[in-house]
Amino acid sequence: VSQLGDRFDAVVGSLDPSMVVVTTAVNDVRSGCLVGFHSQCSISPKRYAVWISKANHTYTVAVHAEYLALHVLAEADGDLAALFGSATGDEVDKFALCEWTEGPGGVPLLDGCPNWMVLRRTGYFDEGSDHVCVAGEPVDVGGGATLQPLRLSAVSGLTPGHEATDRPSAMS
Ligand SMILES: Cc1cc2nc3c(=O)[nH]c(=O)nc-3n(C[C@H](O)[C@H](O)[C@H](O)COP(=O)(O)O)c2cc1C
Repeated sequence: VSQLGDRFDAVVGSLDPSMVVVTTAVNDVRSGCLVGFHSQCSISPKRYAVWISKANHTYTVAVHAEYLALHVLAEADGDLAALFGSATGDEVDKFALCEWTEGPGGVPLLDGCPNWMVLRRTGYFDEGSDHVCVAGEPVDVGGGATLQPLRLSAVSGLTPGHEATDRPSAMS
């Protein structure tokens, strides 16, 4: 009989979420990472939420930021997934290695991704585990292009720039 944690992983894995890149900025400090934990979380008003690992460079910026941008990755965006998911802003300036344009509050908008939204933070939730939830209202939205999303199953071989356990959790 498999362990509860293994069965949890199997059930969650069966969802095979689409992958997004979340970017943010405070003053001249920019950051961004690959994110599989994300969802619309209200209909009226419209809200979207992302979960950011406390281990990530992106977290150290996102806790202070007013704006986040979310970019939907397409199947052909494996290079962006690798840049934002396997490198860390603690060591690499990811924004020197991709094309981007400055959005509200200086948030970087990735030129290669037509489907994006800028969120102004409306909520923040730390339930004590290794990720925090940032929810926001859309203040600018691009694209609506038809695409085949890049799914978790296509990038599960990537080694994250930070493992979630890289920094302590109150619950571990
Ligand atoms: C398949 C995959 C899914 C990931 N999902 C998330 C996620 O939902 N939230 C998150 O904060 N990090 C997630 N990560 C981890 C970060 O993208 C990764 O550690 C990144 O290198 C951190 O960069 P940073 O330190 O510059 O923020 C994921 C990584 C991979 C490979």
